[in-house]
Amino acid sequence: MTFKKNILCIGAGYVGGPTMVIIAYRCPQYKVTVVDTNPTRIAEWNSDDLPIYEPGLDKIVKATRGRNLFFSTEIERGIKEAEIIFVSVNTPTKTFGAGAGMAADLQYWEKTARQILKYSESSKIIVEKSTFPVRTAFAMERILSSTENDIHFDVLSNPEFLAEGTAIKDLEYPDRVLIGSRETPRGLKARDELVEIYSNWVPKDRIITSNIWSSELSKLVANAFLAQRISSINSFTAFCEKTEADITEVARAIGMDSRLGNKFLNSSLGWGGSCFKKDILNLVYLCRNYGLDKEADYWEGVVRINDYQKERFVLNILSAMFNTLAGKKICLLGFAFKANTGDTRESPAIFIAKKLIEEKAELVITDPEALRNARIDLDGIEGKISYIEDPYEASDGCDAIAVMTEWKIYKSLDFEKIYRSMVKPAFIFDGRNILDHKRLFEIGFNVFPIGKPPLTHF
Ligand code: UDX
Ligand code: UDX
Repeated sequence: MTFKKNILCIGAGYVGGPTMVIIAYRCPQYKVTVVDTNPTRIAEWNSDDLPIYEPGLDKIVKATRGRNLFFSTEIERGIKEAEIIFVSVNTPTKTFGAGAGMAADLQYWEKTARQILKYSESSKIIVEKSTFPVRTAFAMERILSSTENDIHFDVLSNPEFLAEGTAIKDLEYPDRVLIGSRETPRGLKARDELVEIYSNWVPKDRIITSNIWSSELSKLVANAFLAQRISSINSFTAFCEKTEADITEVARAIGMDSRLGNKFLNSSLGWGGSCFKKDILNLVYLCRNYGLDKEADYWEGVVRINDYQKERFVLNILSAMFNTLAGKKICLLGFAFKANTGDTRESPAIFIAKKLIEEKAELVITDPEALRNARIDLDGIEGKISYIEDPYEASDGCDAIAVMTEWKIYKSLDFEKIYRSMVKPAFIFDGRNILDHKRLFEIGFNVFPIGKPPLTHF
């Protein structure tokens, strides 16, 4: 079978994988190949046990794999054959040298750019899919044009706005697709080729174009705004707990103002995920590099409030449970950074678990999808930790339950049964405000929500 275009994606992660699955699904006329340096990941993508859990993903992979979607470790061949290459390798926070703990670690994308240069035998369009610091495209262009030949690379920025847990829906029906390009005839032509791909399923008015730097910056700004919104609502939770105001009522009242809107106002024990912290710290680092210290301080505050929120959650547990957790058994209900994913990157649960262990509590961790990652995250931590998938078994004999993740199944658990199996007085700390607090209190629990007065029997 001959295909109209050969599309390659380098990086088969949470972003590259699902994005290419949807392009292949929606565009059967293109051949889509996803390559990765990690052979285990590729083997998993080629198996029935996909490397990531994402609702609806299995079905679409089954429909497309082997038809026009291929997962492979043959990077050299993939590069040679492709006309368009998406770069979706990870860009974590740098852990060493200048900018450690703040700047993005660009070693993987640079290695990838050099691989593209080395193996290419024809001109190509290179699409930045990963989140990069502003002006990364400039550096990429410099690397890609560092040899004398007739091969030309046009670099585009096409940041991905999907959220985990809703990736398939976000990819199939995106609020917008953003494509940034150089405003040269070549740049605009390359941009139009990418617009054509998305036009296969995304309405034209949702595909927006901009200059390349605006596109790179927009991704960082979008994540900064989203995280800021949660940090803002979370910054009022302690206030509510002290004044008997209720954060849910406050969120509803402000969210009905059409200028503010009602989304992303769920107070929590803190936001997590692979992007928010990394991208905001990167933004802060960039601001400081440009001498914009006031702006850097402003955005750093969003991360600071989030760190404080996680600490506050642990301190609340400690103070509620008579200032000692030594030898007490605490069940963490959920471990993923949000519901409907097995991803635990930057999950608040990691921080909370470590702090509770420092207090010498014993932990029982339960989660429908994230136990494999939880074990990796807490590997080597000294303390008593067990991992049990069944929430009833996990909470049996515990002194307290702490809700880490807003999994829907937790709302309909039989809490009377759970209460009977727990040590008394039994505590619930609802880090997501998903449970029926009044009902739990009536059952006998001492209930500590976020941003609401506690309901206790003392
Ligand atoms: C992506 C983006 O890359 C990141 O910048 C954005 O902010 C969030 O989404 P994600 O897909 O979540 O990251 O990362 P990950 O799941 O770690 O996937 C990256 C993949 O790239 C890994 O499978 C890794 O093996 C692969 N990789 C890395 C390569 O194939 N080549 C490399 O040189 C480095
Ligand atoms: C985010 C962005 O939403 C997405 O556009 C970008 O491409 C990648 O980063 P993601 O991290 O997958 O996506 O999930 P998101 O739904 O944004 O949640 C991030 C964190 O905020 C989670 O820990 C979530 O539980 C928390 N959250 C979200 C809240 O605490 N309250 C809310 O109201 C919403």
